[in-house]
Amino acid sequence: MSPAAPALPLVARTAAELRTVVAGWRRDGARIGLVPTMGALHQGHLTLAEAARRAGADRILFSIFVNPAQFGPKEDFSRYPRREAEDLAKLAGIGADLAYLPTVEEIYPPGFAFSIVPGGPIVADLEAAIRPGHFAGVATVVAKLLIQAGADIAAFGEKDYQQLLLVRRLVRDLDLPCAILAVPTVRDGDGLALSSRNAFLTEAQLAVARRLNRILAEIAAEPGRLAAGPDRLRDAGFDAVDYLVLRDAETLADPVPGRPRRLIAAVRLGATRLLDNLPVA
Ligand code: PAJ
Repeated sequence: MSPAAPALPLVARTAAELRTVVAGWRRDGARIGLVPTMGALHQGHLTLAEAARRAGADRILFSIFVNPAQFGPKEDFSRYPRREAEDLAKLAGIGADLAYLPTVEEIYPPGFAFSIVPGGPIVADLEAAIRPGHFAGVATVVAKLLIQAGADIAAFGEKDYQQLLLVRRLVRDLDLPCAILAVPTVRDGDGLALSSRNAFLTEAQLAVARRLNRILAEIAAEPGRLAAGPDRLRDAGFDAVDYLVLRDAETLADPVPGRPRRLIAAVRLGATRLLDNLPVA
């Protein structure tokens, strides 16, 4: 006899359904852990849940919502991978308690008129410069998800480093009572950071993509190599280097001696953008 497949998680499609389930958990004294995602789940996403559990979450709730507000008009919103059945099976496999899959109308009801526009040094450049409006879309949806879920802990990946710092700033500045947990990047056996967008890459592009983390690791070990980095990346086969910078790990300002630093890169392979970053001692 084959073992029974793990039970699928509960599914909520409206904020009201979500609130009802979470209210019951709260009455039982549970701490709520939220993992916000856009779906096409991989081990990076699933690791966020493990980290939230270790940090004290008793119940794990995933949101899966491809957020139109954070995509630019020429970006990949319509072709972003959507894999609801596979995602729910993966969540069952890790024992997640609830999947929240709202519609666009649920998050942005007709007449929707407010959004959260971040400012300050964290959004002075990098992704913010290349994707105008992106972080307003991220900040608005993350604030809404944290409020709707009433989460005590929310987990975010270091993979999207600028986004992580933005979310930290968001909860501080808007007094959202939720702890933000940063989770190290999950990589494949060759060190490539897992990403839903890796699904867009051909085999030949994947071989190039796997060189990104190696080149970053060399520069992180010897930051004097930073200036030559963009040429190295292009020689390795990347079509363009959007940025390759060494920054203060907490403020994203230029590095200051004695403070932690972060090497942060965005490159292009055909139509696909790849992001990665590493700590620098
Ligand atoms: P998405 O790209 O689906 O990522 C969801 C979360 O998973 C983010 O916190 C991201 O940093 C994390 N993540 C992705 N790949 C990872 C990896 N290889 N290792 C560790 N963590 C990884 O980021 C978003 O969605 C959206 O902007 C969102 C925050 C959900 C708002 O719409």
